[in-house]
Amino acid sequence: MEEAESVLPAEGEPMVEIRKLWTEFTTPDRRFTVHQDLDLTVERGEVMSLVGGSGTGKTVLLRQILGLETPARGEILVLGKPAERLSQKGAASRVGMLFQHGALFSAFSVLENIAFPLRELRSLPPALIREAAMVKLQMVGLKPDDADKMPADLSGGMIKRAALARALIMDPPLLLLDEPTAGLDPESSDGFVTLLRSLHRDMALTVIMVTHDLDTLFELSTRIAVLADKRVIVNAAPKDVIAFQHPFIHDFFLGERGQRAMELLREYPFAV
Ligand SMILES: Nc1ncnc2c1ncn2[C@@H]1O[C@H](COP(=O)(O)OP(=O)(O)O)[C@@H](O)[C@H]1O
Ligand SMILES: [Mg+2]
Repeated sequence: MEEAESVLPAEGEPMVEIRKLWTEFTTPDRRFTVHQDLDLTVERGEVMSLVGGSGTGKTVLLRQILGLETPARGEILVLGKPAERLSQKGAASRVGMLFQHGALFSAFSVLENIAFPLRELRSLPPALIREAAMVKLQMVGLKPDDADKMPADLSGGMIKRAALARALIMDPPLLLLDEPTAGLDPESSDGFVTLLRSLHRDMALTVIMVTHDLDTLFELSTRIAVLADKRVIVNAAPKDVIAFQHPFIHDFFLGERGQRAMELLREYPFAV
């Protein structure tokens, strides 16, 4: 699609640039700061994994990059433009998002779910929309027979695949993934990681992914950004992140799970 080309940033320009970001929430009993002076740059073509403790603001950060939430202060540029501008019609041509729980519309079939962002545009004939959705359905490893199934009839792995096809329906250059393999059995998880890896390569995608799963992390990440102390404390290649001195990193990579992390690093030289 020509339009997809034109939204790419100029050569050398980062895909996402976050500067001095502050996020604050006010609840009836308190006001708290989630991000404080957070900086993060994501270069084109990376698979950047975002790790951090529960409640450190990983999901909020993805929603801000998508333009669904506006930070208290600071700047988020996506494809060289302020993120708020993305939350408009046609945004799906710039950024695709796979929400943590798949988030399919339960009253729509698989194909209707995948086609949804295109149908919303109201500019293409139904036959063309159906055809485009069928292409994406097969691209994520689902079968033509799955097109008319309802979300309730799908396995966890199939829900993730259908949601991924919907995120990619307009061929966005940037894909956001929130815990893509959480809740999947090991076999489905492996299958989904393999799919993500080939899509990243074949579609020239930039990916920002939140994950706790070490296999997913080491098999896919070209970089890892660690969220702690309300900001990104390190953003580097996996082997350099593991060597970074910080209590969270020590617990996350070098505690009980450390041995496994080191094995994975050897197993997946791609990550290094
Ligand atoms: N809309 C909101 N209103 C108030 N608090 C929120 C809102 N969204 C997120 N939070 C809080 O912000 C913190 C970060 O949330 P989240 O990004 O979901 O964390 P995680 O890193 O686990 O994904 C949590 O304490 C959460 O409860
Ligand atoms: Mg989250």
